[in-house]
Amino acid sequence: PSTARRRADGELEVGGVGVRALAAKHGTPAYVLDESDFRARARAYREAFEAEFERIGAGVDVYYAGKALLTVAVARWATQEGLRVDTASGGELAVALRAGVPGAAIGLHGNNKSDDEILAALEAGVGRIIVDSRVEIDRVADLAAARGVVAPVMLRVTTGVHAGGHEYISTAHEDQKFGLSVTAGDDGETSPALAALEAIVARPELELLGIHSHIGSQILDPSGFEAAARVVLQLRADLAGRTGVLVEEVDLGGGYGIAYLPADEALEPAPVAQDVAAAVAAVCTELGTPLPRFSIEPGRAVVGPAGLTLYTVGTVKPVTVSGSGTDDETFSRLYVSVDGGMSDNIRPALYGADYHAEVVGRVSDAAKVLSRVVGKHCESGDIVVHEVLLPADVRAGDLLAVAATGAYGRSMASNYNALTRPPVVAVADGSSRVLVRRETVEDLLALDLG
Ligand code: LLP
Repeated sequence: PSTARRRADGELEVGGVGVRALAAKHGTPAYVLDESDFRARARAYREAFEAEFERIGAGVDVYYAGKALLTVAVARWATQEGLRVDTASGGELAVALRAGVPGAAIGLHGNNKSDDEILAALEAGVGRIIVDSRVEIDRVADLAAARGVVAPVMLRVTTGVHAGGHEYISTAHEDQKFGLSVTAGDDGETSPALAALEAIVARPELELLGIHSHIGSQILDPSGFEAAARVVLQLRADLAGRTGVLVEEVDLGGGYGIAYLPADEALEPAPVAQDVAAAVAAVCTELGTPLPRFSIEPGRAVVGPAGLTLYTVGTVKPVTVSGSGTDDETFSRLYVSVDGGMSDNIRPALYGADYHAEVVGRVSDAAKVLSRVVGKHCESGDIVVHEVLLPADVRAGDLLAVAATGAYGRSMASNYNALTRPPVVAVADGSSRVLVRRETVEDLLALDLG
């Protein structure tokens, strides 16, 4: 987090609070969220996109993608910084509503929304439901008709643009479940996306707001956004040519990459906004269509760097790996076990994601040695940090912080091995506040009806 600094005695402080005080008060493991860092990143995205899109004469809305981390306070912070909130389930919708986010400022995503989720969205008067299949078009239209309302919808399309990190988080491949393809069949048939847009136009219970594209996550090259925008704007022009309906909105999704390791580059909002704005202005001029209103949905880029996870070291074990052949060298590393693991951060195990860790409760002059931070779960893939240099005197009781865990840590956490999920603790201006309390074993037992 941007407020993290080392005190003279080597202790890390974040939001003006020392990690030893945080650990004493809230226990470990704990997700620590730097409120001012979150707010600054939310603002940076909104201001950069507003400024660059104003320059080309287009409006833009920034939705915070709640899937990265959504708590009532976090939804409020996003709203107070002028963002809207994108939800991906009835549960996320409920959190946003509990936070007092106006329905009109909420979007609902999902490739398989239940009737209850759709009804809850209609009841809340959400600003948009992003429909993801032909089946869902009729489902939303029928439920809206039954309630006597008109549902505002966008259609999620796949542009064929692939971007982002791991295969499972690159969502615009053809062979995956999201959206409808803009590619027509060999026989020159209408593309599934265009046919679906026409189907929406044909249902009076639906108001077609626009077209949505999300191309992937942890994207570090902005050219994918430009390529996808071109495809979406072309589709918009095609629909207008066929039906006379020129949709007013285009959403370019989320996916802005962050730095996980000290040497990593991150995507900066201002240059991306500038590139994308210039590209969409050029495409609209080329197509002879007026600019739509745009929206984007950053999640990770707003909350990821604002979070760290605080752990306590329990055991340290040197392991020597002997080389098997002439080329393989024998090497050793420290296995440093902490009091959490894959249940609070599944990303290393799921995506091979890399993180950075440091001993943060004290200063150490010991030499740095190759280490691997592991959790306390019953499998060897339970890795928190694959490779990191830690002081050779790292020992039980040390506090260890893992950086950039604000996104997709808590939100993908589990109770594997009946571990209780850690609290989310906000820090700001020298004090800390629990946003989500630590689970207890009693919480787990209460769900088990025996
Ligand atoms: N909008 C839509 C429609 C999305 O599907 C996503 C992410 C976002 C916005 C936000 O993307 P972001 O700006 O956070 O990259 N669990 C994975 C990431 C999955 C992202 C899924 N969709 C991870 O831990 O890397």
